[in-house]
Amino acid sequence: MTGPQVTVIGTGYVGLTSAACLAHLGRDVVAVDIDESKIERLWRGEIPILEYGLEALVLEGVESKKLSFTTSYESLTTADVILLCLPTPVQPDGDLNLRFVEGAIAQMREMLKPGSVVVTKSTVPVGSHHKISAWLDRDDVSVASNPEFLREGTAVSDFLNPDRVVVGASDQEAAALVASLYEGIEAPIQLTDTTSAELIKYAANTFLATKLSFVNELSRLCDAVGGDIEAVVEGVGSDNRIGSAFLRPGPGWGGSCFPKDTKGFAFLAETHGLSLPVAKASYDSNQAHFDHLVDQIVAYLNKPISEARLGVWGVTFKAGTDDLRDSPSVEVMNRLIARGATITAYDPAADHEMVPSEARMVSDAYSACAEADALLVLTEWDEFATADLEKVAQTMAGNKVFDARYMMRPEQASAAGLVITHPGKPTG
Ligand code: UGA
Repeated sequence: MTGPQVTVIGTGYVGLTSAACLAHLGRDVVAVDIDESKIERLWRGEIPILEYGLEALVLEGVESKKLSFTTSYESLTTADVILLCLPTPVQPDGDLNLRFVEGAIAQMREMLKPGSVVVTKSTVPVGSHHKISAWLDRDDVSVASNPEFLREGTAVSDFLNPDRVVVGASDQEAAALVASLYEGIEAPIQLTDTTSAELIKYAANTFLATKLSFVNELSRLCDAVGGDIEAVVEGVGSDNRIGSAFLRPGPGWGGSCFPKDTKGFAFLAETHGLSLPVAKASYDSNQAHFDHLVDQIVAYLNKPISEARLGVWGVTFKAGTDDLRDSPSVEVMNRLIARGATITAYDPAADHEMVPSEARMVSDAYSACAEADALLVLTEWDEFATADLEKVAQTMAGNKVFDARYMMRPEQASAAGLVITHPGKPTG
């Protein structure tokens, strides 16, 4: 039983992961993208993004003929479910631009077969289904929402082992058709109305971002009062009502989703004349955290920042991805450079050409430390936890390490002659 025929529009990380995972579940999937060279590469199993396990699933899907790639919209004439996985760029006011979605709907509206369902999968502003229905202008085609909760780096496993699947639709038949995509997955399926489904995505990301802003504020408070953030988080997180997940302090949060979605949440409230300050405060607190960290680093150095040479480990917004969008590391580096620092940085996955910073990029961790007065650890790549600290100490000019990702233990570092500081933890 293959289930519904699926066409996925857009082969970014959401579209490609969804297409490959649905093919793995036995669905017949056609993935469409306007970028011809990308489609050619995908046929060869070449994945344009770093996403663990995705290449194997794409190759499996192509081999089993469950997955195909094209630039043509032809498959829409037979598709039961159309998943929209298109970019929705954020505008300065926090609203998202739906021009790609509108363009795709214009191209597909006359091709869709009666009874099919057009589903928003990548994040769209709350209420988008009304616009999509109006653009479609088809009484015989439904519009539904099936938000993704995929983390970059673990998207394949998140898709195949979700905590829940949310389907928002206004008619039961459409909801059942969308839910049937997930046959073979063991997870509760929540059927709800379309607006609520769209809102669930925003609420989940805003809540998680708020949790992180809170824990980072807590780390600043620990510095002020002399507490230990790791101990505090352990004690707070073991309350089941709070939970220990997503409570790791760091250099601030980033990526392509949290900043966009917290702003989108605040924009939504404003457009409805509501004062709901939490989402905006969470965003502002994160920006303040970058500033705080930079002040802390500047104070930590034993020379003026304008004379300091800094090594940086980690540039992507988190480990496991090559994505640099709204990376906390880049935020911190750019602030330090604006204050006169000279930075040499290393990241195992980032494309050097794409790093939006004047930092000099090098291709191994130890070269980033060469002649550095201090080393900053800003992304939590595993290799930093197992680095040869003796070698780091020999390469550096100074001996200070500022580890914003809690990768190194002070005992290890001091044995190598390094002095280590973690935000929110007493030193020495
Ligand atoms: C996030 C959500 O986790 C996904 O559920 C959602 O589907 C996705 O956005 C999206 O909207 O598409 P992602 O952007 O891949 O996923 O990144 P996360 O793993 O959530 O991390 C976001 C940021 O928070 C990173 O900068 C990360 O380093 C930071 N973080 C995360 C912490 O500082 N501490 C933590 O404990 C967890």
